[in-house]
Amino acid sequence: MLRPPETFATARLTARRPRPDDAAAVFAAYASDPEVTRYLSWKPYARVEPLADFLRDRAADWERANSPHYAWLLCLRGTDTPIGSIGLMPDGGKVMCGYVLAKNFWGRGMTTEALTPLVDWAIAQPDVFRVWAFCDTENPASARVMEKAGLAREALLRRWHVAPNLGPEPRDCILCARVR
Ligand SMILES: CC(C)(COP(=O)(O)OP(=O)(O)OC[C@H]1O[C@@H](n2cnc3c(N)ncnc32)[C@H](O)[C@@H]1OP(=O)(O)O)[C@@H](O)C(=O)NCCC(=O)NCCS
Repeated sequence: MLRPPETFATARLTARRPRPDDAAAVFAAYASDPEVTRYLSWKPYARVEPLADFLRDRAADWERANSPHYAWLLCLRGTDTPIGSIGLMPDGGKVMCGYVLAKNFWGRGMTTEALTPLVDWAIAQPDVFRVWAFCDTENPASARVMEKAGLAREALLRRWHVAPNLGPEPRDCILCARVR
């Protein structure tokens, strides 16, 4: 059973459990931004309320014994205001990672800073043999984040993921992983 830490900190960030009352801040920071959500599996939020429901579900995940999804909100150290999110999705001995950051903070190494310790933690768990993530082939910043966080490029997944902001057809993706 995987039980990640509920909070962790890096040089510039703290990560903590989401709360429904984060919805307005998450909406303003990134969840309503079509550029941020371009390659993601969800459309930008048009209203705060459904986002509060989503965050309520992510908060509830932490109460489950064997959750398939653990999500953290990323805040600048010394603040409690979310600027991004990162998550682990366990599935047997495999753990998938996902991440998103507000555009204002892109290009400063922050996602790598958050992802690296999570990957290190996950692959160190006795029941985990594979930590992996994927991104759209047209999202090179994300591919670079995976690589910098210690995931090795393994495969081109043709027709793997539907990005609803880019159309109904599945798109080619890059898969990266760390195994032990
Ligand atoms: C992808 C994303 C998480 C990257 O976050 P970030 O904090 O800017 O990432 P980092 O600063 O840690 O690293 C980005 C790297 O990509 C590189 N990069 C950025 N744009 C690039 C491009 N167009 N082509 C190639 N490399 C690029 C940067 O130079 C940097 O690498 P470097 O440190 O070797 O210079 C962020 O852009 C984001 O939230 N995008 C929208 C959501 C998303 O796509 N999430 C991933 C879904 S798989």
